Amino acid sequence: MTATQSRPLVGAALNRVDGPLKVSGQAHYPSDFDVPGQAHAALVQSTIAAGRITRIDTSAAEDAPGVLTVITHLNAPRLDRGPMTGLGASPPPPLQDDRILHHGQHIAIVVAETAEQATDAARLVTAEYQADEAVLDLDDPRAQILDNPWGLDTQRGDVAVAMASAEVVVEGTFTTPDNTNNPLGLFCTLAHWDGDRLTLHDSTQWPSMVRATMAQVFKVPEDSVRVHVPFIGGGFGNGLRAWPHVILTVLAARTLARPVKLVLTRPQMFTSVGHRPEGVQHIKVGATATGELVALEHRSLSAVAMEDDDYEPLAAGSAVAYACPNVLTRDRQARLNIPNPTSMRGPAEAQGNFALESIIDELAYAVGVDPLEIRLRNYAEINPEAELPWSSKALRECFEVGAERFGWSQRSPEPRSRRDGDWLIGYGVAGVSYPWYQAPCQARATISADGNGYVRSAAADLGTGTYTVMTQVSAESLGLPLDRVRFDLGDSDMPIAPQAGGSGLTSALGNAVQDACRQLLDSFLTLVHEDEMSPLRGCTRADVAVEDGRIHRLDAPLEGETYADILARHNLTELTADGASDPGKAADLGMALAGAFGAKFVEVRVDADLGLVRVTRIVSVIDGGRILNEKTAGSQIVGGTVGGIGQALFEDTVTDAGTGRIANATFGDYLIPVNGDVPDLDVVFVGAPDRGTPLGTKGVGEVGLVGVAAAIANAIYHATGRRIRSLPITLDTLL
Ligand code: MOS
Repeated sequence: MTATQSRPLVGAALNRVDGPLKVSGQAHYPSDFDVPGQAHAALVQSTIAAGRITRIDTSAAEDAPGVLTVITHLNAPRLDRGPMTGLGASPPPPLQDDRILHHGQHIAIVVAETAEQATDAARLVTAEYQADEAVLDLDDPRAQILDNPWGLDTQRGDVAVAMASAEVVVEGTFTTPDNTNNPLGLFCTLAHWDGDRLTLHDSTQWPSMVRATMAQVFKVPEDSVRVHVPFIGGGFGNGLRAWPHVILTVLAARTLARPVKLVLTRPQMFTSVGHRPEGVQHIKVGATATGELVALEHRSLSAVAMEDDDYEPLAAGSAVAYACPNVLTRDRQARLNIPNPTSMRGPAEAQGNFALESIIDELAYAVGVDPLEIRLRNYAEINPEAELPWSSKALRECFEVGAERFGWSQRSPEPRSRRDGDWLIGYGVAGVSYPWYQAPCQARATISADGNGYVRSAAADLGTGTYTVMTQVSAESLGLPLDRVRFDLGDSDMPIAPQAGGSGLTSALGNAVQDACRQLLDSFLTLVHEDEMSPLRGCTRADVAVEDGRIHRLDAPLEGETYADILARHNLTELTADGASDPGKAADLGMALAGAFGAKFVEVRVDADLGLVRVTRIVSVIDGGRILNEKTAGSQIVGGTVGGIGQALFEDTVTDAGTGRIANATFGDYLIPVNGDVPDLDVVFVGAPDRGTPLGTKGVGEVGLVGVAAAIANAIYHATGRRIRSLPITLDTLL
């Protein structure tokens, strides 16, 4: 680093810089914004899952108090679809014809003077349908199957031959249900047109994508669309797409020439902003008698909506998790009459890892090798698909440190061999290799006349700590104390940023921020390069360091001057520089860019008579590369682990077989872990800065969830001798 600081800023377990705003109610979430003259919208949703609207009657709604307009497919304009992104295109625009593709599809938007009037009038819209038999099950022969939709199928060696020669073969079919990512903050859109200029407040994880989508759908230039999201009440993947309700709100505002605000209801959060789609996986491994893998075959089928894209390659991760010479992975999707799925924290991996790490555990018992030992025996020292060294990988250390903290050596090898009264006690372990989604990013840095720094990018902070860690990176890179740097985000007019998702933003944005700050230091040095008045004349970045806003020569620390002095002498009010990051460049380094790795150690107690499961301990050891803030990163792992307990034991979005209606679309009926379900969670980070990225970071947003389900299932097997291959694991499956 050229910029130094007496106290290290990066890595420190600092409190959130936005904490005071949040606890004092000054952090404004999308639903907190209001625009003078705004009207309020409510949605009407389909009550069948497939078919056509034969008649829709809006007259009573139109006559209701305060109603300004009702838009249906009969009066909606034709709209384009949004652009393709790295995560697929946004869903097709709503209200384009009379077809119904899923239960809960928006069939009208009602706009009124107040939210209550809109909600009331929405109930007065009546629709008649010609219903078709909906395709709701993965095994429905009528379902269209998408072949290798993401092009991620892998094949190396000859699995069939190797499997036939294996001394031990273990296989199983694993099922995972629909889960719903349902952040506390109800999704909200507030749209305001001024001529052809659109201002949007939206609950999104990706302001730049919403801007691009609205520009394309409404045929206006991108720079006339501005998306704001300074805070969002959680995301977990819901905010990765520009949803139909966003388009409807923007359309209503354009139609009325008035600002329009829409807040989804909790039940609508189950149908309108995505979910983790159900899947079925068949996995088969062949090994030597001592547990060395010789063949691995992993096939998946997961659900996707009728005219939608969703990134969900469940099996793909199995290609790189272990050093196995013969591997085949296949991911397929079945088109069903379901609400559009979307990535949900650890998409694909959360399900795929459950199957892989369960079957590895089964293999361990089959060959009589300790479950931890079998994972080390098949350790992938290099990326086996790319045949390149990892940019970093400390999974072995994760296992070793975790085993020590957990007390794995106390484990009794036999299943059902430890008991405390009614409770059977079991230990389980799972390894996690998490591939991250990487994308280019831009940032801009400014030093103003007072010598303070201002850095920004059009990213979003889901509550993960982006404001905080980027303030740390900015302060360190600019050589300023924390309180003299402001980092801002959540505005699509700022330099373009990728999604806060795929565990990729911290690296993409951190590298861009660091680059912008370094470019800015270069700009200062360029300014004084031939400045007779400057003690820094002739210096390049390699010749200097910055401390407390003062640039000094490395060879003569007393020779230097402050940012503010330089600006004043040159009659400048500020100096600004742009920076960027591009993971493609790192890929040229001859190494396989690694995501995070992790090991999960779980202790469960299972009531021998009642089948009750209690998770009593979880140790998470994570290699996240360089950790920018021990506190916010640790919170990501804690939160992800709680999500993993939910996936393992509680979460199940139930679709009514007859109608395609989601039957438990409330927080009372959709179960998630509560405090009593969560033990103290031990989290520790290991590993070194990643070599493939300038800042050395990897993403930790999702790795914390992945592996929990397998480790719990493995612990339940160890406790009870019952192998459960279907989530969630409920007491009825253990009786
Ligand atoms: Mo995450 S599922 O990439 O928000």
